[in-house]
Amino acid sequence: MNILLLGSGGREHALAWKLSQSPRVTTLYAAPGNPGIAQCATLVTLDATDHAAVTAFCAEKDVDLVVVGPEAPLVDGLADSLRAAGLAVFGPDKAPAQLEGSKGFTKNLCDRAAIPTAAYVRTTSLEQARAELTKFGLPVVIKADGLAAGKGVIIAETAGEADAALVDMFGGGFGAAGAEVVLEEFMTGEEASFFALTDGKAIVAFGSAQDHKRVGDGDTGPNTGGMGAYSPARVLTPALEAEVMDRIIRPTVNTLAAEGTPYSGVLYAGLMLTAEGPKLIEYNARFGDPECQVLMMRLQDDLAALLLAVATGTLADHGPVTMSDNCALTVVMAAKGYPGTPEKGGAIGGIEMVSGPQVQIFHAGTALKDGALVANGGRVLNVTATGSSIGEAQARAYEAVDGLSFPTGFCRRDIGWREVARERQG
Ligand code: AMP
Ligand code: GLY
Repeated sequence: MNILLLGSGGREHALAWKLSQSPRVTTLYAAPGNPGIAQCATLVTLDATDHAAVTAFCAEKDVDLVVVGPEAPLVDGLADSLRAAGLAVFGPDKAPAQLEGSKGFTKNLCDRAAIPTAAYVRTTSLEQARAELTKFGLPVVIKADGLAAGKGVIIAETAGEADAALVDMFGGGFGAAGAEVVLEEFMTGEEASFFALTDGKAIVAFGSAQDHKRVGDGDTGPNTGGMGAYSPARVLTPALEAEVMDRIIRPTVNTLAAEGTPYSGVLYAGLMLTAEGPKLIEYNARFGDPECQVLMMRLQDDLAALLLAVATGTLADHGPVTMSDNCALTVVMAAKGYPGTPEKGGAIGGIEMVSGPQVQIFHAGTALKDGALVANGGRVLNVTATGSSIGEAQARAYEAVDGLSFPTGFCRRDIGWREVARERQG
């Protein structure tokens, strides 16, 4: 089969790497891709916001499956347009993609389906938000409703910080994403991510991971898109996973299906493991970045067959997904300045030297300049390794990091620290 993969980050490089290993794939196209993706796919120029152009490309190249990597095209309704043209798409339609596109939509769905989550209020004006704020304790969580590239969440420790966040959001600091603001109760616990594939009817678990959102060691500094991840997240025990399936994932899938907007694709649940049990923090309508990278390193199944089963509504015939017993860990190498303005153009060397069966370097923000690889974004490389434990995968990943030459880059040195500490305790 021919596949078109949309996106250009480390998540898409990991997807391309795994898809290209499938004996079923004839040609894998990727748009726009990056220099790493170019090693396992044919890059093409396509504007994902031009639905007619993407549809025409698929007709011309006999594309059997379109895999949408990032959230923006899904929230924009690209999957609807492609499905209307008879194409198989991995990724939800616009209406169910509101799970990621609108935090208020997800909170309302949690109410309708009795899904455990933080108490909340949706607000549409500064005056209303200020009045509602008095009903919350501190810290309080303030979220721009729409897509904000992971930056639209403020945890306000004081009333002054909370008010400043509201003024900023309603003042246009997050563009249209902040026209509506959700106020939330602050939850405490350890965070974990859980992934499930669904075609709207069948649901299969797709593993767990733990991200590291803060830029600095010890979880300090500003939030980022994610500085590293590992899988599995053993803090999510089999019993907790079963609870997440029963109380969060299945009610979500069933409610959306019953309401006539079935969800097809990957459901990425951001969870808080609270003293009262797992609660939903948020949903994403696509794979996590960099969580996808560690999941792909562990996946034993044919990814192309799996994603096609989701896209064609035949997931029930596929059966459970097999993940390796091995662990995987990825360290994000970012360009200095990230998550502010990253330094572009820095030279990168040594990738071939450090890569091997247990080490993959996925490209996130890279470019070729006069034939040489350079940094071209905030998150630049994902140094990903496997091992029999998180500690072993961590040691292998940092050994590879130290073998790379990337003078304008930096990374956290403690990815996986919670799990490594638990492993040491035995
Ligand atoms: P989100 O983009 O909704 O995942 O939020 C980003 C981060 O903010 C999460 O990973 C959590 O660390 C934190 N967060 C979001 N909502 C809450 C909440 N209600 N209580 C505590 N932390 C939260
Ligand atoms: N790593 C967080 C995300 O993909 O949203």
